[in-house]
Amino acid sequence: MTRVLVTGGAGYIGSHVVKHLAASGFAPVTLDNLYAGHRWAVTSGELIEADFGDPERMDAILGSGRFEAIIHMAAHIWVGESGKDPAKYYQNNTVGALNLFRIAARHGIRRIVFSSTAAVYGEPDLDPIPEDAPLRPINPYGASKMMAERILADVMAASGGSWMALRYFNVAGADPDGQVGEATPNNSHLVKLACMTAAGLRPRMAIFGRDYPTPDGTCIRDYVHVQDLARAHVDALRHLLDGGASMPLNCGYGHGFSVKEVLDTCRRITGVDFPIVDEPRRPGDPARLVADGRRIREVLGFEPRFDDLDTIVAHAWAWERKLAAMRGA
Ligand code: UD1
Repeated sequence: MTRVLVTGGAGYIGSHVVKHLAASGFAPVTLDNLYAGHRWAVTSGELIEADFGDPERMDAILGSGRFEAIIHMAAHIWVGESGKDPAKYYQNNTVGALNLFRIAARHGIRRIVFSSTAAVYGEPDLDPIPEDAPLRPINPYGASKMMAERILADVMAASGGSWMALRYFNVAGADPDGQVGEATPNNSHLVKLACMTAAGLRPRMAIFGRDYPTPDGTCIRDYVHVQDLARAHVDALRHLLDGGASMPLNCGYGHGFSVKEVLDTCRRITGVDFPIVDEPRRPGDPARLVADGRRIREVLGFEPRFDDLDTIVAHAWAWERKLAAMRGA
């Protein structure tokens, strides 16, 4: 069995990736400092409680020769926070990643799948956005990931390794089995917040801006089910292990929904008519971000299984109720 180190494996997306790796015949080991992850979220394999940004620790862990590949997912992810504390983002997402890639290369680890983001594109002129669109991030979060992508490409090229950078669009939903889901602290993701509001944990939802140049005036995003995204990681890893070429890949379905459409869907699926108020635009929000999703289909033969907003919200809602039960237990 191929042994894979998954940094951030106790987090929202990481926990789905670890579960899917195990179900696909890989042997995942999670490395997580539990800053935003949870012990209970690791459903398969060992959990090493460590910070990937600790070079001595990582040297010992990767020097053990146990791992053939790394899926590097651990990162800070909040756009707003990245503007307030950019150094925190560059330190973790760029400098930390550089150290990790260098140590991996030194110990002969030749396959790395890296979690990147649509935030590397900034406010693109192209719609939908292909992978070769110019990278012009408009916030430190996107810039920190763009630089890490470049470092990864250069370090792996020099060491004879290969890599994939998966550029996530808007990830939502939860494990269809209900075993894992989103429980990241201080969350600001739209679908997650709407489900928390429907569960009575927040008084209302706000729409950040109704004056965008879109049909209903609210921002449009490409919402991708976390289970499809988890499968994309496993497919990307297989591609590299089979000798496939290195490249960035968009992870989105290629069509978008507006904030208003998402909130209407959340109200309908949860059956809760939670209040929705209008607020001003949130700084740094592009009007429309939709992936050109052709390359991932061509290169990985990727076929989405949960490309349906109702299903995404239904799974997120089922998970929110399970979390409520876990809290009450
Ligand atoms: C961004 C990043 C993504 C990052 C995520 C977490 C980009 C391209 N993507 O996604 O990589 O992981 O932030 O911070 O930068 N909205 C409301 N009301 C709310 C919450 C959100 O109207 O209460 C709107 C936002 O204005 C946005 C949409 O919903 O238009 C989605 O927002 P969100 O879920 O926060 O994700 P992004 O900001 O698109």
